[in-house]
Amino acid sequence: MKSDSVKSTVSWRALLDEAIHNFSEVGLPEIEARWITEEAAGGQLIGVSFEELVTNRAMAHYDNLISRRLNGEPLQYVLGHWQFRKLDLMVDQRVLIPRPETEVLVNHALDEIDRQGNEVLVADLGTGSGAIGFSIAVERISTQVWCTDLSEEALMVARANLAGLGQPAKRVSLCQGSWFEALPKSLQGKLGLVISNPPYVPTSETLPLEVKDWEPSMALYGGREGTDYLQKLIHESPSWLASKGALILEMSPNQTESMSSLALSKGFNEVFVGSDLADKPRLLVARKS
Ligand SMILES: C[S@@+](CC[C@H](N)C(=O)[O-])C[C@H]1O[C@@H](n2cnc3c(N)ncnc32)[C@H](O)[C@@H]1O
Repeated sequence: MKSDSVKSTVSWRALLDEAIHNFSEVGLPEIEARWITEEAAGGQLIGVSFEELVTNRAMAHYDNLISRRLNGEPLQYVLGHWQFRKLDLMVDQRVLIPRPETEVLVNHALDEIDRQGNEVLVADLGTGSGAIGFSIAVERISTQVWCTDLSEEALMVARANLAGLGQPAKRVSLCQGSWFEALPKSLQGKLGLVISNPPYVPTSETLPLEVKDWEPSMALYGGREGTDYLQKLIHESPSWLASKGALILEMSPNQTESMSSLALSKGFNEVFVGSDLADKPRLLVARKS
């Protein structure tokens, strides 16, 4: 018998009950215990599989995942993947965990792409896991998407996610470098859309421990006011955008007003602020014309 198929005397149901109990003792929700146990089981736990005895190898995997979560590691990193729109993205400590508010940012991107018609060239700057750029490539066949990041480690994760994208991957390029410097110069004046969720947390802000201790600081902090990179992207995007092009940026609610004024002063003719799922101002759409 192969060592990885040796059975323990414990069922998946017993492990799930144990996880629910241990999580409730530290205030973690039952659903997380279920998701992690299912991950360790390699799929959904329904019907007869609940009563199956766990192999020793699966037990070791379960123990590892549960103790990581109890140690404070975010659920998404423990699971190793997370849903973003239509994508199931690999995530680990090298990248920011894609957030629901960023899914809304993509809705606005799709509207801009539809408004422009034909083939639209898109740059997703600071792509992390690839969440924004890959979603655009998957959801709009008319796009060519350049995804960039300064972090070589983040790009390794993006590369792995790109490999699982199928046909749309042919329309995606990954480039390493700082903001626009990563892009081929030939794209200057031709991009229909520049989109970014740059680091925008002020350096002095106290973040929850689960964010501060686990997510890459390079993905979080944007200088003293948090607006260093937002300002840079607003300053530099006009020369990269085509005449009807648009810039879409995610930011913190208290940054939207000053960033809207800056965009208007830098030659964008139409600027509006969009809200997140909690109805807070969260993003800026700035059109050239
Ligand atoms: C807030 S995260 C966004 C990740 C992903 N786009 C998302 O929405 O989930 C910001 C990303 O910007 C990248 N970044 C930080 N400084 C950068 C720079 N100078 N040039 C390009 N990317 C940078 C970080 O590595 C990180 O992946």
